[in-house]
Amino acid sequence: MPKKVTLFEVGPRDGLQNEKVFVPTSKKVALIDHLSDAGFKKIEAASFVSPKWVPQMADGAEVMAGISRNTKVTYAALTPNMQGYERALEAKIDEIAIFGSASEGFSQKNINASIAESLERFKPVAKAATKDKIPMRGYVSCVVRCPYDGNISPSAVADIANELLDMGCYEISLGDTIGAGKPETISKMLEVVIKKIPPEKLAGHYHDTGDKAILNIEASLEFGLLTFDSAIGGLGGCPYAPGAKGNVSTLKVHDRLTELGYETGLDRDKLVTASDYLTTTMADLA
Ligand code: HMG
Ligand code: MG
Repeated sequence: MPKKVTLFEVGPRDGLQNEKVFVPTSKKVALIDHLSDAGFKKIEAASFVSPKWVPQMADGAEVMAGISRNTKVTYAALTPNMQGYERALEAKIDEIAIFGSASEGFSQKNINASIAESLERFKPVAKAATKDKIPMRGYVSCVVRCPYDGNISPSAVADIANELLDMGCYEISLGDTIGAGKPETISKMLEVVIKKIPPEKLAGHYHDTGDKAILNIEASLEFGLLTFDSAIGGLGGCPYAPGAKGNVSTLKVHDRLTELGYETGLDRDKLVTASDYLTTTMADLA
């Protein structure tokens, strides 16, 4: 029996958020519609952060109103605070994500708060999501290295991951935000995290700056992780993480995992269609 893996498509959010040219709402909608057709169970479709901080994501409500919702897909969005949560609710998002960092430097630069302050800010969001029965995911950024603070200790990752789980997150996505991880460093981090959190509550979110994301996924499979974030076309990065390149390409992960005998449940031809659509769209906008 092939083992099932889940690819959480984050291209419409993590991928597009780093693009300098504004991608028109209709193009974002069309991209998400292509992806909805490809068999994903989870698509991160929007981000209800401050439009002053990330102008590219300002049209989240319009994007959500424009897409053809596939009932088999959970559409997720980032919500950094109550303002973001209320906007997400209004846009009828299916799932939210709160996002913290294992490093102080990135926390300050990315969300203008210390780690402790960010956790306080997430508490009312978590409480509201629990009351409204909206599933909540947690991100931990800079799980091996921070562009400001350097190397990060695995215990710092485990600590914040546990805090987010305690708030009600069903899963923690471990972000190698700048793609600095290698199988050895990812494994060292997971060795510590796994002692406190079972693998079925963890996902790998590996940017591919150093071209090691696939190897990092393979290392994570050894620890029992079976959910990985990926972005169509390998697009993206984070505007507050200098040097960060895109998330690992969905097609690349799909092909490698299939080769290794895993089942992604995705339709490869439709992934190619979505990827080609993105390439053409970005070329037209350039
Ligand atoms: P702040 O400036 O400290 O917030 O930003 P504030 O509460 O002082 O508000 C300032 C202004 O923003 C106010 O407007 C608010 O109304 C508005 P003004 O009165 O000046 O007109 N505002 C909002 N507007 C709409 N929606 C909101 C919202 N919140 C405030 N939700 C804040 C704090 C967290 C808002 C800001 O720092 C922010 O939006 N940061 C997000 C940055 C971001 O999106 N980064 C990329 C995503 S994270 C990532 O990529 C990593 C990840 O992929 C994992 C990995 O790779 O590691 C997830
Ligand atoms: Mg990311």
